[in-house]
Amino acid sequence: MAQQRPHVFVTRRLPGDAVERLRAQASVDLWDGDLPPPRAVLLERAREADGLISLLTERIDEEFLRACPRIKAVCNVAVGFDNIDLAACTRHGVFATNTPRVLTDTTADFAFALLMAAARRVVEGDHFSRSGEWKTWDPGGLLGTDVHGGTLGLVGVGQIGGAVARRGRGFEMKILYTDAVPRPDLEAELGLMRSELDPLLQAADFVSLHVPLLPETRHLIGARELALMKPTAVLINTSRGPVVDGAALAKALKAGRPGFAALDVTEQEPIALDDPLLGLPNCIVTPHIASGSLTTRANMASLAVENLLEALAGRVPPTCLNPEAATNRRGD
Ligand code: GLV
Repeated sequence: MAQQRPHVFVTRRLPGDAVERLRAQASVDLWDGDLPPPRAVLLERAREADGLISLLTERIDEEFLRACPRIKAVCNVAVGFDNIDLAACTRHGVFATNTPRVLTDTTADFAFALLMAAARRVVEGDHFSRSGEWKTWDPGGLLGTDVHGGTLGLVGVGQIGGAVARRGRGFEMKILYTDAVPRPDLEAELGLMRSELDPLLQAADFVSLHVPLLPETRHLIGARELALMKPTAVLINTSRGPVVDGAALAKALKAGRPGFAALDVTEQEPIALDDPLLGLPNCIVTPHIASGSLTTRANMASLAVENLLEALAGRVPPTCLNPEAATNRRGD
């Protein structure tokens, strides 16, 4: 008797051909909207599914897992997984996966792009050129901060933080880092120096955040921490918006300490148009696109699909976040 093909719900169109490859092995229900499926639609469409390809916009929690009793794996197209209740997945015997490594360099490139753009006032320069206010070459106009030779403070040096450090070395920067885990490998290879958070904030010309969003990293950078930064310093966030207290940041930028912020992530996404951060010339905000190169987004989709196919074949997926879920595994 022919085996029934597994049924999979995919919550958004994805770049590349990964979904086509998934279709060769599974019956695929693809949400075709430009916006995420509303919660009720997600619960309804995933109810009979054996697997889910999700984005960071979908909340995977106890309610979802109860509503979708056949789901064997939830495969996020993102390295971050703060949208997934991992403990609940494990309890329900559901594998959860993310997409590490394939986006490391692309995300680090973008963190550095933000750093450079803020330091050298690229966005303000573009606005100025279009404004009609550019009258002559001005020796004092739009002066920025040198990147080369500056001090880079990395808050978190996992894969992406490490890749940003490599870029910093190319610019002959002195690099400080904070991390729960010491990185003697990076200290030896790139001359990184481990520091506590406060002295790092006081010393750095550029502070770049690379921590996951956890209860202990929510508002890690608030009014007290911002007040420690230099008036010329730049804060770069490509991690998760709530790692920074956005209201405190707006006040701090207005007061000129730190001097600039460049944010790819914000507490609310999309950021509200009346958010004070958007009214500040010393703040750049991009719409959560740090991993957004064509190749990388296609590779993220491919890895998520590979994870799902492995889980549906009864194996622990390659980038599984909770292999221990295998002990509670759901039946077919
Ligand atoms: C994007 O933010 C990701 O976590 O991959």
